[in-house]
Amino acid sequence: MIHSRITGTGSHLPARVITNHDLEKMVDTTDEWIRTRTGIERRHIAADGETTVDLAEHAARRALEAAGIGPGDVDFIAFGTTTPDLVFPNCGVLLQRRLGCGGVPAFSVETACAGFMYALSIADKYIRSGEARRALVIGAETLSRITDWSDRATAVLFGDGAGAVVLEPADSPGILSTHLHADGQYSELLYCGSGVSRGFAPRLAITMSGNEVFKVAVNKLGQAVDEALAANGLERTALDWLVPHQANLRIIQATARKLELPMERVVVTVQEHGNTSAASVPLALDVAVRDGRIRRGELLLLEAFGGGFTWASALVRY
Ligand code: ACO
Repeated sequence: MIHSRITGTGSHLPARVITNHDLEKMVDTTDEWIRTRTGIERRHIAADGETTVDLAEHAARRALEAAGIGPGDVDFIAFGTTTPDLVFPNCGVLLQRRLGCGGVPAFSVETACAGFMYALSIADKYIRSGEARRALVIGAETLSRITDWSDRATAVLFGDGAGAVVLEPADSPGILSTHLHADGQYSELLYCGSGVSRGFAPRLAITMSGNEVFKVAVNKLGQAVDEALAANGLERTALDWLVPHQANLRIIQATARKLELPMERVVVTVQEHGNTSAASVPLALDVAVRDGRIRRGELLLLEAFGGGFTWASALVRY
């Protein structure tokens, strides 16, 4: 039986940084409010003209290097993003062109903050079926482009970035399970109300009922982590690391409490980059792999929650 395994990780943040103190000069907020409500201290913002695929290319090349393979070895590209460079071609194809691995399937998945998790689940299935052997899975965003920088309720939350992993076949898992969920009844709580078919609205910006989103996120993520463990017949104590979606430190803490995991076993990077949506989980994973916290053989629980709502988990033997 074929399984899939993460053989390399990579990430990238754009150079420009906006700190909470910078935001104090832009909207009616304080560093103290942002840190205590969200845990965020700064966010990285793409330069003018710098795109989602630009960020993704850096992360992808790092992941390929870590896996010890070249772009020509890649035979599947799954790209999670809600902030694509163009309506089409999709970001997967644009990245494929940059990397020079033309001919292989390349597509993007648009499930907001759960975009990488959805892409990971799809790539895992292709590797396990034998139809792909070296999959590049990306989560990358330029959320700054759909952030209203005059709206304090959302401007303090989001940032740009990219993360990537390489998946390859293995005799043992690897990815033990993925679980994907969506519930469209919540679509009014978090959305960007502009688009091709409906027409581009004058205000292209994220609209969010933060408090409502917070409550549903805590609830659904609690269910998702239980589901992942139960599906694998595992107890909470089996987990080495929680690698959560980096939206809000208080949501992360609530999920950790549910798992009875001490915060030392939770990868937290939200202070460095805010909510980077689909990039968030692979970014955090790469940071903890590269700084030596996450080691080969350890058991990781990845989870994400985003607009839709969409949410997902992956249980991974690294
Ligand atoms: N600075 C100062 N005060 C603020 C700010 C700000 N930036 N924003 C809101 N406030 C005020 C509000 O006006 C309100 O004031 P009032 O009491 O006088 O009315 C007060 O702070 C409390 O506001 P709440 O919205 O109740 O604050 P809350 O504790 O819920 O925190 C937050 C807001 C941080 C947005 C939180 O609700 C949250 O993180 N929600 C979840 C976001 C999330 O996880 N999104 C996930 C996916 S994102 C995606 O898919 C793209």
